[in-house]
Amino acid sequence: MSALGQSEQIPTGDPGLEADPDSTSLAVKIAVRSASRRLTITLTHQAMAPASEEGIVTDQSLTVRDNRTGKDFDLAITDGTIRAADLKQISASDGDGGLATYDPGFVNTASCRSSVTFIDGDKGILEYRGYPIEQLAEQSNYLEVAYLLVNGKLPNKAEYEAWAHDVTYHTFVHENLKTFMQGFRYDAHPMGMLAASVGALSTFYPESRNIFDEESRALQIRRLIAKMPTLGAFAFRHAQGKPYVYPDNELSYTANFLSMLFKMSEPKYAADDRLVRALEILFILHADHEQNASTNAVRAIGSTQVDPYTAVAGGIGALYGPLHGGANEAVLKMLRRIGSVDNVPSFIEGVKNGDERLMGFGHRVYKNYDPRAKIIKKAADDVFEVTGINPLLKIAVELEKIALEDEYFVSRKLYPNVDFYSGLIYEALEFPPEMFTVLFAIPRTSGWLAQWLEMLGDTDQKIARPKQIYTGERGVQYVPMGDR
Ligand SMILES: CC(C)(COP(=O)(O)OP(=O)(O)OC[C@H]1O[C@@H](n2cnc3c(N)ncnc32)[C@H](O)[C@@H]1OP(=O)(O)O)[C@@H](O)C(=O)NCCC(=O)NCCS
Repeated sequence: MSALGQSEQIPTGDPGLEADPDSTSLAVKIAVRSASRRLTITLTHQAMAPASEEGIVTDQSLTVRDNRTGKDFDLAITDGTIRAADLKQISASDGDGGLATYDPGFVNTASCRSSVTFIDGDKGILEYRGYPIEQLAEQSNYLEVAYLLVNGKLPNKAEYEAWAHDVTYHTFVHENLKTFMQGFRYDAHPMGMLAASVGALSTFYPESRNIFDEESRALQIRRLIAKMPTLGAFAFRHAQGKPYVYPDNELSYTANFLSMLFKMSEPKYAADDRLVRALEILFILHADHEQNASTNAVRAIGSTQVDPYTAVAGGIGALYGPLHGGANEAVLKMLRRIGSVDNVPSFIEGVKNGDERLMGFGHRVYKNYDPRAKIIKKAADDVFEVTGINPLLKIAVELEKIALEDEYFVSRKLYPNVDFYSGLIYEALEFPPEMFTVLFAIPRTSGWLAQWLEMLGDTDQKIARPKQIYTGERGVQYVPMGDR
């Protein structure tokens, strides 16, 4: 293949980065060393090409020289990415399968094209389908946001009413599913119960396997969004040994959830409007967050063309892990351990000495501020107006104040994230910590389903099946057990 850019070999010992001196285009060469084998990469970047109609920036390419063979390869750059499959043509010997990338944790690999959620971590921007999260949290409600995520546009009045009606009338679950949940041990973790019961839903709706039937897909989506609060509330009541409460179809999505959680003998449960609204905001903020671990799990499982209940059950499994959904519980534990405002300075010193982390601070993506944290802080104030101040709040506020002024946190761009205040709100609403991830999974379902739908319609997608670098032995001869 011919090189588009100037791609002369970088001498050994070169620091690895050099500008091409004689080109109208910008060309940068990067030498990548691996043992004695090297690749020389030239980024050829003709004057910025215009975006095509689909918004895809084209006409840019990367010229790669394989220093094992001296051959050059041109790889198209589209939207700031090269296709990993294009590297396969770079081969040192017949049958070696070509070059691959090694990227544990997908830290620099785009797994899909998506128009669901946009995040700019440096600027602290989060948008669902292009709408800023601040506007949605201020003016919308969870069901409308769920419609937006799944359908790609805000509903008009008639569409919203039909959607809200459909979701509301699918909130009941089959009695056998209730019995199934009652079979769990008295102290079963509600998230384990939720994962199992969502998975079990696929056996109640076998037609959900028809994933290429548009009507069936839409029905399963309504069912899943509708039944998640019911299953979450049943799991909560189970742990308390209280009877499960059936849905009340006269209530809104979040008011009904609160009713199923907290109703006792009163004929109708009426939650305080401010609490209903706070929960609504928390649900909106948690509805989607692009390709996070659980969404990636839903897409990967969904890529096998299994039914959506099973795919979402897998997403719940991923969310269950402490590295994903459990940080707000860790914040509460930390605040309890600190115990009083007087202990905050010594705690901060400990964090700065590297003894531990300030939980609820820092984010892999947001390096300026987490836009959800600002909104949540306001919601926390509204909740505490109803429930009274959580004594841990004073410690949280003091921690935030000191950390935001301290050079250690400022220089590392460590700001409060969504979990810093959400745990305090959940505790004020009398949720035990085990329920926190359930409260995350319920609203995230609409995001998972929007991403699942998008994946099914994406002709680029294939079954998710990564490569590996095999490091084990080969051709070992079997030794009968008695001879080992
Ligand atoms: C979220 C998190 C995992 C992101 O990690 P990351 O992007 O990989 O950032 P790093 O771990 O590379 O941290 C960069 C620097 O900031 C420090 N740092 C990051 N988060 C910190 C925290 N919460 N408290 C104290 N120091 C922190 C690291 O020690 C590191 O310092 P160094 O450069 O001196 O080594 C991390 O900030 C964290 O553990 N936060 C607390 C847990 C939490 O709230 N998680 C919920 C996320 S929504």
